[in-house]
Amino acid sequence: MAESFTVHFVANYWRHILGIILPLLILYVIRSFFTRKRDTPETNRSPSELPEEHPLAEFRDAQPTDKDSDLPTAPLSPLHAEDTEQMPYVHVKHTEEEMIQRSQEFYKLMNNRRSVRMFSQQPVPIEVIRNIVHTAGTAPSGAHTEPWTFAVVQDAEIKSKIREIVEKEEYINYDRRMGDKWVQELQFVNTNYEKPYLDEAPYLIVVLKKPFRIGPDGTKHVHYYYEISTAISTGILIAAIQNVGLVTVTTTPMNAGVAIRELLGRPEHEKVMLLLPVGYPAPDATVPSIKRKPLNDIMVLK
Ligand SMILES: Cc1cc2nc3c(=O)[nH]c(=O)nc-3n(C[C@H](O)[C@H](O)[C@H](O)COP(=O)(O)O)c2cc1C
Repeated sequence: MAESFTVHFVANYWRHILGIILPLLILYVIRSFFTRKRDTPETNRSPSELPEEHPLAEFRDAQPTDKDSDLPTAPLSPLHAEDTEQMPYVHVKHTEEEMIQRSQEFYKLMNNRRSVRMFSQQPVPIEVIRNIVHTAGTAPSGAHTEPWTFAVVQDAEIKSKIREIVEKEEYINYDRRMGDKWVQELQFVNTNYEKPYLDEAPYLIVVLKKPFRIGPDGTKHVHYYYEISTAISTGILIAAIQNVGLVTVTTTPMNAGVAIRELLGRPEHEKVMLLLPVGYPAPDATVPSIKRKPLNDIMVLK
């Protein structure tokens, strides 16, 4: 009975059945074609093509947003060999007591850090600066792109030129660009356009961020999260400076970046992000008396 009904149904309605099945089949074939195309190794793919569940999917929207940068549109080529070997992680283990003690000591060391704007001219061995920059270079970076350059200036003439560039721009910044509210909110820091420390500190470290790198064949390759990566490495640089008993002040040379980059002979795709004088504090150095937020205000425990 059921069998004759089925035969009857198919005989009468086969055109309708085919009309439903055929488009579904075509859709399936098209979808399989595109899915296979997406399954090429990720190193050959633009991150925007990665599927939602892919472990690298977080990089999909990671295009730099810096308007100052000339972003490459070229496809990515592998940065690391696909067969990069794994190796054992060397773990230095401490007891819980040691961990508590070390974390307290490190907090004390870092809590003593202050932005110092008055420098002694006492020389600092270049070896110390090398080690500090080397330490900054241990920072994590998006897809291990290491998108930073630390230009260390010790030459007195170059330092003076940098001071000239910065002060010229800072004069306009304080006078016009920053606006009354900003200038007023900065009064506690007691700064103005004059930056004598740019001459006096034995070293200036210019931190440059690199939105992309240029391969040997001239192809441009995007550096994911280049800005945050460079910022993290600068944080490590600042901690390393504090660790050796030297001081710095994190400065953002507004509108002076291009002139400083050109003076240092750095390529156009490197952007000046920060300028840090490094040295001993002047014997009579003072800092604004400020308080830091208590732990409860910056940490939430769930
Ligand atoms: C992103 C950034 C930009 C800064 N820019 C300047 C600057 O241009 N000039 C300056 O004198 N200090 C600058 N500072 C230093 C801050 O004023 C300082 O960190 C803040 O007042 C807190 O003081 P502390 O560093 O002694 O804890 C900057 C700090 C940061 C993190």
